[in-house]
Amino acid sequence: MNRRDFLKFGLRGIVVAGLGKGFYNTTSEQVELVRTSVKIRNLPAALQGLKIGLMTDLHASFIVSSETIRSAGRLLMAENPDLVVMTGDFISGSTKFLSGSVGQFKHEHLSKCVEALAGLQAPLGIYGVLGNHDFWSGVESVETICETFARQIGMVWLRNRSVTLTRGGASFHLLGVDDYWEPSCSLAAACKGAGTDGIRILLSHNPDINDEIFLLRERIDLVLSGHTHGGQVVVPFLGQPVMPSKFGQKYRAGLVRDGDRQTYISRGVGCLLAPIRLNCPPEATVLTLT
Ligand SMILES: [Fe+2]
Repeated sequence: MNRRDFLKFGLRGIVVAGLGKGFYNTTSEQVELVRTSVKIRNLPAALQGLKIGLMTDLHASFIVSSETIRSAGRLLMAENPDLVVMTGDFISGSTKFLSGSVGQFKHEHLSKCVEALAGLQAPLGIYGVLGNHDFWSGVESVETICETFARQIGMVWLRNRSVTLTRGGASFHLLGVDDYWEPSCSLAAACKGAGTDGIRILLSHNPDINDEIFLLRERIDLVLSGHTHGGQVVVPFLGQPVMPSKFGQKYRAGLVRDGDRQTYISRGVGCLLAPIRLNCPPEATVLTLT
């Protein structure tokens, strides 16, 4: 084998191995539990060690199995989080952009999804915000998603509002906004009801909300997001050049710092368009505040 053949076969081997790993990434066994510590300035002693379980981008559809969603929920529950948050794209329906049955919102997918999450519970509650795909099937679908999750797993929706939660005598503010691409998104409304006297954690499907935080000069200590799927298909040596973000690669995945504010972007649980994740396994996240 000459040098040229060696390189050719070697490259093919990398691509095949990468593709194999990519398909394998979509199974329930491959949901990765990511544990991350987040240092928060002026965190009260009583909130040291607060655990937040994060699940996002379930994309309940015919290409995401209930087992994958159930597996992500079980991984979180095994960590005993103080609260669970879910940051949108519960479904994949997109009647706004896709015609026919491909884009149609199907209630059976939503039912299977919420059944798979029946075991979720946390002392401080379960909170959610909506993603772009949740809105792209119309107002009725949004109402159905909200009602189904509230009734079956006790989800508290943070649609441009906040709640104040207390642990061990110390309080913090949990805020949430509608998807950043929707006209109904209002960071100002979410912040208006939230006190400025404690830690502020914002749930936003799209990490681009950072642009709005900067413009409004609001203090947010931690943003929890999804939306990017971590790229979903990450090609060896090339990465993922196309990102649904005005900031390009900046908020692709993981913990990103902007001054005193940090944003954690989860790769999410489900996938979109095809059951393919390449070098980018589905993720359930536990963030521990320190
Ligand atoms: Fe998504």
